[in-house]
This record gives sequence, structure tokens and C-alpha cells, in this order.
Amino acid sequence: MSILKCDDLIMQFGGLAAVNHFSLSIEAGTIKGLIGPNGAGKTTVFNMITGNYKPTSGNITFFNESITGLKPYKIVARGMARTFQNIRLFSNLSVLDNVLVGFHHKIKYKLYDAVMRLPRFKSEERIMHETCLQLLDRVGLKDRAYLKADELPYGDQRKTEIARALATGPKLLLLDEPAAGMNPQETTDLMYFISEIRDKFDVTILLIEHDMRFVMGLCEDVTVLDHGEKIAEGKPADVQKNQKVIVAYLGEPDA
Ligand SMILES: Nc1ncnc2c1ncn2[C@@H]1O[C@H](COP(=O)(O)OP(=O)(O)O)[C@@H](O)[C@H]1O
Ligand SMILES: [Mg+2]
Repeated sequence: MSILKCDDLIMQFGGLAAVNHFSLSIEAGTIKGLIGPNGAGKTTVFNMITGNYKPTSGNITFFNESITGLKPYKIVARGMARTFQNIRLFSNLSVLDNVLVGFHHKIKYKLYDAVMRLPRFKSEERIMHETCLQLLDRVGLKDRAYLKADELPYGDQRKTEIARALATGPKLLLLDEPAAGMNPQETTDLMYFISEIRDKFDVTILLIEHDMRFVMGLCEDVTVLDHGEKIAEGKPADVQKNQKVIVAYLGEPDA
């Protein structure tokens, strides 16, 4: 079953078509890779899917309902979460508090209750705290819960961001260059982590990545963008041999 469909998306910035006639379909339960040289339009595709950008034209459907042009928080509420290319943690907050931010949209108590410290606030706060610790336990970060985010090694900061995204209870998780800036050991560790997340949390994953080894080792299916257009799609081994893909990557110093 396809859970997300992008149909003929165009994103125009002034005279530049950053994404041009782009279509994509993601099957439930898969890990799909979106790759391509720098500036190809990968993050722009994410921004349209998550509602950060409104496409110039085209449609996006999620579980067979149109989400084109919806606000990001509405899309989160429908079961989609993302991480960003640059780490966006609150560096002075604990791992636990950073992940609690992800639970935010589920908070039912009113500000008044919070200010007055009424019982409902206390019990909801306690429940969220415990749920959050359970989540950290499931992703192997429980022993880091009370460390400040900036005290963590880089790899664990990335995992904390993914945990925060999982706190919203997503069905589809979008990861923008999760392995960027990691050493080979951290990268391998993250591959296992993402694969485990998919199974434990029953999520479908779409990820952008530069590291070919990462994509080839983790993704079941890959879509390649170049200059805003899809140039190839299929199994990683086949895509890697595709002549258009090889040419697109040849000019890329860090590919
Ligand atoms: N908000 C924006 N305004 C203008 N141009 C943008 C904006 N976002 C992205 N672009 C341009 O769109 C192109 C694709 O960018 P991006 O999607 O970030 O590429 P990638 O993630 O593949 O490296 C680039 O030329 C970039 O400068
Ligand atoms: Mg990008």
C-alpha cells in the first residue's frame, strides 16, 4: 500500500524551478532514499511534503487524503514527522526535555492549569514524563535522559532528534541527511538504529543522504534527483549503475 504520493510537484523560486514535475510514491513499511547532488532539490521536496513550502503546483496525498498546502502542524497531527539537515536541539536542555517538546501537540491541559499547578496539569506532566522515558528506553538513550543535549556525542544528538520526531507518533518519518558530519563508526551505528526504529515503531522512512554506502546498505528503494528532476528510481544496486546517475555525481566533489 502506498501511504504517500507526490504528483507532478513544481516548486518555483523566482525564475528557478528548484523542483520540476516531481512524482514519488512510498510503500508502507519501506525505507526509501532520496539522493542527488547538492542543490538538486531534495530538501525542497521535504519542505513541500511537510507543509513548510506550498508547492507552486502539483498534489501530495497522505493516506489517500490531500495534504497539499496544509500547515506543518496539521500534517504532523496526521502522522508525519521530520528531522532537519542541521541539528536543531535545544543545546541547554536535557535529552528528556528535548524529546518532551515532541509531545507538545498532545498536551491537553490549558495554560491556566499549568500556571495554577492544578492536579490535572501535574498528572498529565507526570504521564508525559514517563512516556518520554519509555521512548528513550526503546531507542537506547534512557541513560542519557538527564544529560544536556550539547554534552552528547554527535551521533547521540542525531538519535535524540529522531526520538523527538518519534514522540509525535508518526507513521511516516522524514530524515534529512541524518548521517551528515558523522564518522564511519557513527554512520554504521546510525544505519542499525534507523533499521531498528522502522521495525520497533512500525514507521515508513524517507531519507535524504549523501553517503552512498549508507543509502546502499539501508534503503530498499532509491529516487535520484538532479537539477530538480527525477533522473532515476529503483533498487539501490540498479540505480548505482545507471549512467545518468553516474554522470550527475561525477561533477560532485564530495559524492
Ligand atoms: N526558500 C528558498 N528560496 C529560494 N531558493 C531556494 C529556497 N530553498 C531552496 N532554494 C534553492 O533551491 C535549490 C534546491 O535546494 P535544496 O532543496 O536545498 O537542495 P538539496 O537539499 O538537494 O541540496 C537550490 O538552488 C536552492 O538555492
Ligand atoms: Mg538539502
